[in-house]
Amino acid sequence: MSAGRVDAEGFAAWRSAQQAAVEAALSAWVTPDAPAGLGEAMRYAVLDGGKRLRPLLVLATGEAVAGRPAAAMRAACAVELIHAYSLVHDDMPCMDNDVLRRGKPTVHVRYGEAQALLTGDALQALAFELLVPDDGSIEHAMSAAMCRLLALAAGACGMAGGQAIDLASVGLALDQRALEAMHRQKTGALLQASVLLGASTGSVSEATRVQLARYGACLGLAFQVVDDILDVTADSATLGKTAGKDAASDKPTFVSLMGLAEAQAYADQVLDQAHQALNQSGLAQADTLHALADWVGRRAS
Ligand code: IPE
Ligand code: IPE
Ligand code: MG
Ligand code: MG
Ligand code: MG
Repeated sequence: MSAGRVDAEGFAAWRSAQQAAVEAALSAWVTPDAPAGLGEAMRYAVLDGGKRLRPLLVLATGEAVAGRPAAAMRAACAVELIHAYSLVHDDMPCMDNDVLRRGKPTVHVRYGEAQALLTGDALQALAFELLVPDDGSIEHAMSAAMCRLLALAAGACGMAGGQAIDLASVGLALDQRALEAMHRQKTGALLQASVLLGASTGSVSEATRVQLARYGACLGLAFQVVDDILDVTADSATLGKTAGKDAASDKPTFVSLMGLAEAQAYADQVLDQAHQALNQSGLAQADTLHALADWVGRRAS
């Protein structure tokens, strides 16, 4: 699997450079000037934390297809804003009721529930605003395609729908098929969209797009399986969020379904499929995408 891959040092350097660029772009776009403390809460929710996996996927795919860097950075930040909004709402008492996120008190703990709700609302709107700039940096057809991709992934058939299934599944023993469907929606959709957003900054053949979609879907599913595993195996300090929450909240997860070792084997198997999809994509420069899939499987938080 490792033939032709970027080496670990090269990938780490690429990752930290891109993470810094994303941080700077987010800081410029999420301004503090929204009224009544909303801007401060938005910046608190977005800046200074998180692995930035979704932006990295957008940027790596954009590079792989020789896409427009300015469009890729906007898309990278847009998807991260949707993700950050989903985390703010996911942590609220009416959902997972978590007090720790990215090593800090959650937004509702820090700013109150109403402000947390509005923070999520405003971040979601800002995500789409970023995709429709008025400076000509993204042409209209590309903007529209990106908005559609992101809306589908964030909405009822994607993240929000998956979150609804998650909440409706508390205390239930879902079978593998149902659990997989939930994970594909609540987490996989946005990760797959990240890849497709990156692809949409350039021009790719339909065959390549199909394989990139498969790569994104496999990586997205594996990502949530590993999230389920880390909830059991990692500590809160490493995770930056409260460990052991899934069992405590009686959530069905891949660990509750098949145990730790099987869940990791399953994640590895799905990540193998992600690598295969890249191998069949016809992309000459897919090293960073391969490395990102490896990172998803091996991450500690
Ligand atoms: C956590 O996502 C929520 C899930 C979708 C499982 P990440 O693990 O990507 O969280 P950050 O962005 O690094 O904080
Ligand atoms: C969250 O899944 C998925 C989202 C859409 C935010 P989790 O509830 O498992 O995420 P964590 O573990 O709180 O980060
Ligand atoms: Mg949740
Ligand atoms: Mg949660
Ligand atoms: Mg989790």
